[in-house]
Amino acid sequence: MNRVILSVVALVAFCACASQAHPDMDFPFGRIVNGDAAEIETHPYQVSIQTTKGSHFCGGSLVDDDTVVTAAHCMQSYGADELQVRLGSKSRSSGGEVVSVRAFKFHEGYNSKLMINDVAIIKLSTPVRQTSKIRAIPLASVTPPSGTPAVVSGWGTTCFLFCSSPDTLLSVVVDLLLAKDCGSSAFNYGDQIQDTMVCATGEKKDACQGDSGGPLVANGELVGVVSWGNGCAWTGYPGVYADVASLRAWLLDTAKTL
Ligand code: ARG
Repeated sequence: MNRVILSVVALVAFCACASQAHPDMDFPFGRIVNGDAAEIETHPYQVSIQTTKGSHFCGGSLVDDDTVVTAAHCMQSYGADELQVRLGSKSRSSGGEVVSVRAFKFHEGYNSKLMINDVAIIKLSTPVRQTSKIRAIPLASVTPPSGTPAVVSGWGTTCFLFCSSPDTLLSVVVDLLLAKDCGSSAFNYGDQIQDTMVCATGEKKDACQGDSGGPLVANGELVGVVSWGNGCAWTGYPGVYADVASLRAWLLDTAKTL
């Protein structure tokens, strides 16, 4: 019995490492982000959400000079006084500006089983000055059609198993998939894909653990918030995002009143 478990573990480890060494090989444990090193000027809305000890745990997007959009599931473990946000740096551990958090609120309809309404608003304790490295991104009011190229970025892990998080920002281009397509029989999620979700897919390209809360951007607008996925970059399992267009009214309203 133990030997069986051991060989499964060994096989999994081999696949994960092999897919790292040979990103072109079609292992089930695809290498994410399969991304490229990114400059913060290319993604100046990208922020790192961290504990006050400086440990990054989620991404976020600056949407005005004192407001960050992130995922509701990112905001379940800490109080506002235990959080900080780093902006304007491609490194999650140095550079840019570190600002404390005045308040946050996650969507009251967030459901951790269904993963619906997976969005939250964070208010910074002081507004930031926008520069070439720190810039708010508009919220999409319509989600572009399936097949539209979109870029996802973050400091998340580079594969699902046994991969660490890079210190420097990575990004990857993926194709948007509207909920009706993502939930279709072309993929394996079925009715897990709800109306407040949008997906994005690419061959061995995806967001992964630690990218959550971060931006999916198309046509210069925030279209999605990294939410969940079965594995990372697994065939038949696109990355799933909170759909900004359908949650836009809640986001704007909460940003105004919080
Ligand atoms: N839930 C993950 C996080 O907390 C993000 C997962 C995204 N997964 C994916 N395959 N796109 O960081």
